[in-house]
Amino acid sequence: MNKTIEKIVSLCKRRGFIFQSSDIYGGFSAIYDYGPLGIELKNNISQLWWKDMTQVHENIVGLDSGILMHPKIWEASGHLGAFNDPLVDCKQCKSRYRADEFSEDYASIDWQSIQCPNCGTTGSFTEPRQFNLMFKTHVGPVEESGTEAFLRPETAQGIFVNYQLVQGAMRMKVPFGIAQIGKAFRNEIVARNFIFRTREFEQMEMQYFVKPGTDDDILNQWKEKRLNFYLEKLDIEKNKLRYHEHNDSELAHYAKEAWDIEYNFPFGWSEIEGIHNRTDFDLSRHQEFSGKNLSYFDQPNNERYLPYIIETSAGLNRMLLTILADAYWEDDDNNRTVMKFHPRLAPVKAVICPLTKKDGLPEKAREVLDILKPHLKVIYDQQGSIGKRYYRQDEAGTPFGITVDHESLEDNTVTLRDRDSMKQDRISIDQLLTAIQDNI
Ligand code: GAP
Repeated sequence: MNKTIEKIVSLCKRRGFIFQSSDIYGGFSAIYDYGPLGIELKNNISQLWWKDMTQVHENIVGLDSGILMHPKIWEASGHLGAFNDPLVDCKQCKSRYRADEFSEDYASIDWQSIQCPNCGTTGSFTEPRQFNLMFKTHVGPVEESGTEAFLRPETAQGIFVNYQLVQGAMRMKVPFGIAQIGKAFRNEIVARNFIFRTREFEQMEMQYFVKPGTDDDILNQWKEKRLNFYLEKLDIEKNKLRYHEHNDSELAHYAKEAWDIEYNFPFGWSEIEGIHNRTDFDLSRHQEFSGKNLSYFDQPNNERYLPYIIETSAGLNRMLLTILADAYWEDDDNNRTVMKFHPRLAPVKAVICPLTKKDGLPEKAREVLDILKPHLKVIYDQQGSIGKRYYRQDEAGTPFGITVDHESLEDNTVTLRDRDSMKQDRISIDQLLTAIQDNI
């Protein structure tokens, strides 16, 4: 694993952001659990996305569909037939690889001439075979044919099959969008780079239903909007973001045009979000397989059509990894590690510390805690020296440190420390809440 990623993994465990699943049993590959700080950070990100979609845009509404759905949906969507990765195995050391990691044109590789990157044996690879990424399960108490179901590999299909119900109930007019946040599952062959590629993850997807012919322009608008979200809402460094257009061999089976937003991770440029023109592929397939007419009636123009769909599809966990990687800062001058989260994203907004454990300072500090906690996620800490307490919170990315000292008892003021500059200002307790909220 890349060195910086290793350090981030270790910090995440130490500070309670992210743990390997089933740790006490030796771990469970490519699944992660989010600890107290991880879930706060994840919630902050998903709430920003949800607000940006369903509150800022009056023509986008939300949905929460099931993870398990009618199995025919996956036949119609093409996932049963086409959602495959090519897989090769080394017969010598049993390592498993995606064949397309060796070359996009993996079909023309002579596999007997390839050396296994793990054990160094040449000629030990099997021929590539297609491997479906969907997790299969059974619904009902008996495993028999007809009870087979799948854990959804994308949240999008739940939106497509509900599109007419949502449109009718909310009297939506094209163009309109439906947004959803939820778990998705893929039996990834190669899972690596921490939470970048996992078998269970969360997607934040928005499907925008448009009139055919307007799709190209609308895709361009969403490309721009989604990049701006990373810059303006998540405060990601501009020169670490770029677009990547899919070529023919990269295009998913449903897409006419697709763009990734990529981030320059410590392990290289990689996709964090896709913006796709899915045309009427999904609706026409569901229309065919369900036998239901899924067309939209455009009343003012007195015409009926199947809308095209522009999709914005982001991975919540990848977005979180982007934020972790972007925020990670080794401040060598001060011999500390800092997660420079924007205060808007920080899991905890402020730590409140009594300078000592006596003279009534803990009681005064708890008064400050009581003032702030109905409004902000804040914590109380009186363990260890004040320097150690601050450094602990720097690693957790807490942007503000509030210290209650003897002066606080006399004039109702505290010191407010800025995480990045380490500068401390004296401020009246009455002004604390506004001072912090102004930065969020
Ligand atoms: N509905 C379209 C769709 O699912 P995708 O490019 O396969 O498109 C969209 O996935 C996003 O979901 C990706 O950009 C990534 O952020 C996230 N994602 C996909 N597979 C993932 C995995 N195995 N682990 C974590 N995130 C994943």
